[in-house]
Amino acid sequence: MSFPQWNEKYAIGQYQIDFEHRNLFKLANRLETILTNSSSASAINDAIKKLTDYTKIHFRNEETFMGKIDYPQLQEHKNSHRKLITQITDIESQQHKLQEQVSRLKKLLNTWLKGHVIGKDIEIARYLAAEHASRV
Ligand SMILES: [Fe+2]
Repeated sequence: MSFPQWNEKYAIGQYQIDFEHRNLFKLANRLETILTNSSSASAINDAIKKLTDYTKIHFRNEETFMGKIDYPQLQEHKNSHRKLITQITDIESQQHKLQEQVSRLKKLLNTWLKGHVIGKDIEIARYLAAEHASRV
């Protein structure tokens, strides 16, 4: 199974959000490489922390943007952000069980990028396109 890579077709057409999604993929890919090549708990936890910190900022920005455009699924989308943060924070606290931490993290990164960024965030682009179409 290959790790998800950023593709411009995932862009939602909003500069800041797309910029952050690209960075999110970079950080997740860096973490995946570390998980595969390193057994150092501190290197892994450093990379988890970087990803988590960036994600929190990104989710805040994305939620503000969804609010601005009156995105109808805002609450549902916020809930799925909260769930991802809870999951990664939970894994982050598992430092004493390195093997389990690594395998849970690999699974989460995959569902996160494929299921959330590619699956759910792209619905924001669809909404924007439909809104725009209804105004012309
Ligand atoms: Fe999102």
